[in-house]
Amino acid sequence: MSRVGIIGAGYVGLTTAACLAHLGHSVVCGDVDADRVARLSRGDIPILEEGLLELVTEGLRSGRLQFVVGAEGASRRRDFVFLCVPTPQSDNGAADMSYVEAAAAQIAPVLDPGTVVVNKSTMPVGSTRLVQRVLEEAGAGSREVRVASNPEFLREGTAVRDFLNPDRVVIGCDDTATAVRVSELYRTLGAAMLVTDPASAEMVKYASNAFLAVKIGFINAVANLCESVGADVREVALGMGYDKRIGFEFLRPGPGYGGSCFPKDTAALNHLAESVEFPFPILEGTIAGNRAQYERMVAKVKAAVGGELAGRTIAVWGLTFKANTDDLRESPALYIAGRLLAEGARVRAYDPAASTEKALASVPGLEIVVDGYSVCDGADLVVLLTEWDEFRWYDLDKVASLLTVKSIVDCRNLLDPAAVRRKGFQYTGVGR
Ligand code: NAD
Ligand code: UGA
Repeated sequence: MSRVGIIGAGYVGLTTAACLAHLGHSVVCGDVDADRVARLSRGDIPILEEGLLELVTEGLRSGRLQFVVGAEGASRRRDFVFLCVPTPQSDNGAADMSYVEAAAAQIAPVLDPGTVVVNKSTMPVGSTRLVQRVLEEAGAGSREVRVASNPEFLREGTAVRDFLNPDRVVIGCDDTATAVRVSELYRTLGAAMLVTDPASAEMVKYASNAFLAVKIGFINAVANLCESVGADVREVALGMGYDKRIGFEFLRPGPGYGGSCFPKDTAALNHLAESVEFPFPILEGTIAGNRAQYERMVAKVKAAVGGELAGRTIAVWGLTFKANTDDLRESPALYIAGRLLAEGARVRAYDPAASTEKALASVPGLEIVVDGYSVCDGADLVVLLTEWDEFRWYDLDKVASLLTVKSIVDCRNLLDPAAVRRKGFQYTGVGR
């Protein structure tokens, strides 16, 4: 059993804290947001994440999990301190390291000798050394504090499952003994373990996210091509996926990828490539193609209402960046809704999990409706932007009775086109 501190109680920090407590470690998780800490201390989970409530409740009851305000309280008398703070995109595309640097400077004076600081946030190549330097300059230098990179690969919505059943654990450290200490935290998971140098570990994270983004970009391009030649991209993806070298995953075409990570991490990798004057056209093309895919969805809606959005009322199903999360960060749905508004449409939206306040802050002028049928009432057509399962089971006769034009633009290929058409709807999908 180790004593672990976690800095940041967001999607990654909170999941890491709850899962490490579940694995038997003694965990203190600190966040600057006092309201969040108060809620978490009562066992009230501020994010939608399957299985997290159970683990936080278990941790609080057993006394192995504790929440505190601020980074320092989570860093005293710890064997490991995980940095799980944001690394957002800065204006030039690079990762903004200011939260990481601030957190490292805060914790430096209170760390015990021998504590290992673990970079869990997604940080660019060179960050292990950067954090080491900040810690030393802020007063930890004489106390032999070491830094390791240990990137996280969890997905939102399945974060707990991904953390406890990882495909691999990657640890980057110049000092093998330190890397082995970090690996011991995960020993009971029985996962493949890659111990490597810091730069390679940092690159694994960016390369993995960028590769997945390229895969999505590729299938979106194939989908667009299918529309021109009369093929069905779902059949094509199936036929490709049987090849084990390709696989079925991340071949779902859609409105373009979003979320708090793919857009910023592809931009950061592209920035890195530019900084060493390495041309990376596949990545550049993926980033540009993704924006174009958002616009393509706007064009589909426009075409479905006859070419003119001004004066039309559009119903939107789904606002989060994918299903089974409440996260709206970089959601294609918000971008597309904003573009429909900008073209003069009235846009009414329903999402089963998104916060109304956050959606309205991102897209002023959007109207939020509390259920998936009412949102269609008096609308011209409905556009499905997030693949929430409930949309599959809606009563299409009821939907038809509420819309003025019987038309569905399904940007996630969630619905069965034949079933929708049988009900008298015009159906528009992606690549079929
Ligand atoms: P988040 O915004 O949900 O959470 C970050 C938390 O850190 C916030 O609650 C914030 O209040 C807190 N914080 C900021 N500065 C602090 C400080 N000095 N002391 C204490 N708390 C502080 O972010 P996230 O989605 O958890 O992402 C964190 C990092 O993990 C990013 O680098 C991201 O790229 C990476 N990552 C995210 C995911 C994901 O699915 N969200 C997956 C893998 C990796
Ligand atoms: C992604 C990665 O999958 C995680 O491994 C990684 O840890 C994480 O980013 C991160 O670094 O933060 P996440 O952003 O939670 O996880 O979501 P994904 O399930 O990867 O989806 C990302 C976007 O791609 C979503 O907008 C989703 O709708 C889209 N997507 C995904 C597709 O359009 N098609 C697909 O086939 C898969």
